[in-house]
Amino acid sequence: MSAVPRLLVVGGGNMGAALVGGLVDGGWDPGSICVVEIDPTKRESLSASLGVAVSAEIVAAEGAVVAVKPADVAAVSAVVAGSGTTRIVSIAAGVTLAALETAAPSARIVRAMPNTPALVGEGVTAISAGSACDEDDMAWAESVLSAVGVVVRVPESQMDAVTAVAGSGPGYLFLFAEAMLTAAIDEGLPPDVADALVRQLFRGAGVLLAGSSEPPAVLRERVTSPNGTTAAGLARFEAAGLRDIVAKAVRAAATRSREMGR
Ligand SMILES: NC(=O)c1ccc[n+]([C@@H]2O[C@H](COP(=O)([O-])OP(=O)(O)OC[C@H]3O[C@@H](n4cnc5c(N)ncnc54)[C@H](OP(=O)(O)O)[C@@H]3O)[C@@H](O)[C@H]2O)c1
Repeated sequence: MSAVPRLLVVGGGNMGAALVGGLVDGGWDPGSICVVEIDPTKRESLSASLGVAVSAEIVAAEGAVVAVKPADVAAVSAVVAGSGTTRIVSIAAGVTLAALETAAPSARIVRAMPNTPALVGEGVTAISAGSACDEDDMAWAESVLSAVGVVVRVPESQMDAVTAVAGSGPGYLFLFAEAMLTAAIDEGLPPDVADALVRQLFRGAGVLLAGSSEPPAVLRERVTSPNGTTAAGLARFEAAGLRDIVAKAVRAAATRSREMGR
């Protein structure tokens, strides 16, 4: 490894390991990355699986991603900044830029909110600039976090809405998948067939939606023949107020995110 790593990832848990795996798969030199992890067992497995340097101690780097639990992120950021690293990305849910900047005043801090599909390289991460950040810092954060999916920029005031939509969104879709699975079995399909149908349905529809420039409403209309089967199913969703239920669910999640951030 070079004397000063290009990137320090503090916390080699789910997110930290997924990020480093994505960077190495995407062509980053493993020798330019150092992971800091306090758990010795995890250190051994990370070093074997990722091929990067794994350390018990925070060292100075060109930039750092802090991927520890929210309760630890301010204290860890202070140590990272104290080691001389001036560019820090925090991915902790609910920890504000103000709190991070108070803990690590010498650093330029980017706050990021990834979501769980980052674990398979298909996440969406929103990033917000701290008060000292410039365009280079944001571009750097984008270049690192894009290893695990799409990156969008938002003002920090929109982070609660991002959390309610993209952070909690996988949970909403998994609930819908559960309901589809139950309904498929109730309609007489064997559980293994129902399971295969529902899993592939979400993948296929997701790929179609992500790869299209059309709004979801247009894609829906295209698969809905007048008086056909899809129309019959959709009419039930509309009659039950699905759009209103979704709006209320997202509102509740955003409200909870604001409460947790206080
Ligand atoms: N998972 C998600 O889908 C998701 C989504 C959005 C945001 N996030 C954010 O991502 C962050 C990490 O989440 P995660 O799911 O990856 O958590 P995780 O699996 O618990 O990973 C955190 C890792 O950091 C280690 N650690 C704790 N303190 C440390 C320190 N001082 N120095 C070095 N390593 C330290 C932990 O070790 P120990 O286990 O021994 O404590 C653990 O291995 C959280 O702040 C979370 O809010 C996660």
